[in-house]
Amino acid sequence: MSSSVRSGGPGTQGLAPQGGLALDAAGGASEAPPAATAPTRIFLRLVVNGAPHSLEIDPRESLLDVLRERLDLTGTKKGCNQGACGACTVLVGERRINSCLALAALYQDARVTTIEGLSAPDGELHPLQAAFIAHEGFQCGFCTAGQIVSGVACIAEGHAGSADDVRHWMSGNICRCGAYPGVVAAITEVGGRKLP
Ligand code: FES
Ligand code: FES
Repeated sequence: MSSSVRSGGPGTQGLAPQGGLALDAAGGASEAPPAATAPTRIFLRLVVNGAPHSLEIDPRESLLDVLRERLDLTGTKKGCNQGACGACTVLVGERRINSCLALAALYQDARVTTIEGLSAPDGELHPLQAAFIAHEGFQCGFCTAGQIVSGVACIAEGHAGSADDVRHWMSGNICRCGAYPGVVAAITEVGGRKLP
C-alpha cells in the first residue's frame, strides 16, 4: 500500500474557504491565504483631442464608455458594441480602433482623437468633414463620425488611392442607410489631395 497521505478526495484537498481555515497536506488546520481580489477602481490618464484627463474608472470600462459617459464626448457612437459596425471608431495616435472593444485600462497615457477633435479650434471643418457634406456621405448620420474618423486614417495610411481601395479599407464601417457612394466619393476625393 502506498505510504503517501491524501487528506481527502478531489475537491477537498487544499480547499480554502475565504478567510477561514484550510486543511494542509497532512490534514492539519492552517490559516488560509486571503483571497485575491481585483481592484474595483483604477486611475487612468488620457489625452483626448489634445486635452489631458485624469479619471478614476472601473477597470472593466471600455474606451468608448469612458469617452461617452465620463468625458461627454458623445460624437463617437455605440452601434453594435461588439466590433462589427465601426460606429465607435477613434484614433489612438494615428491608428484607428473600435473603441467598444478597447479596454480603457490598457490605454494609459494614450493620445486619442475623436470626431470632436478633427475640426480646427475656430470651428473650421476638417477637409473630410466638408467633403462628406459636399458628397452627401450620410443620411441618418449615426455611422458618420466613425466613417469620417476611419476615413482620416484610411487616407493617412495611403489606402485611398482609388474607389476600390477605399471600399476595401473602409469595409469595417457599416452604413445601414446605404450612403456608401457619398462616403467613397468623399474619401477618394480628399485622398487625392495633399492634406495640410
Ligand atoms: S459599436 Fe464598436 S464596432 Fe460597433
Ligand atoms: S447614414 Fe445612417 S447608418 Fe450611415
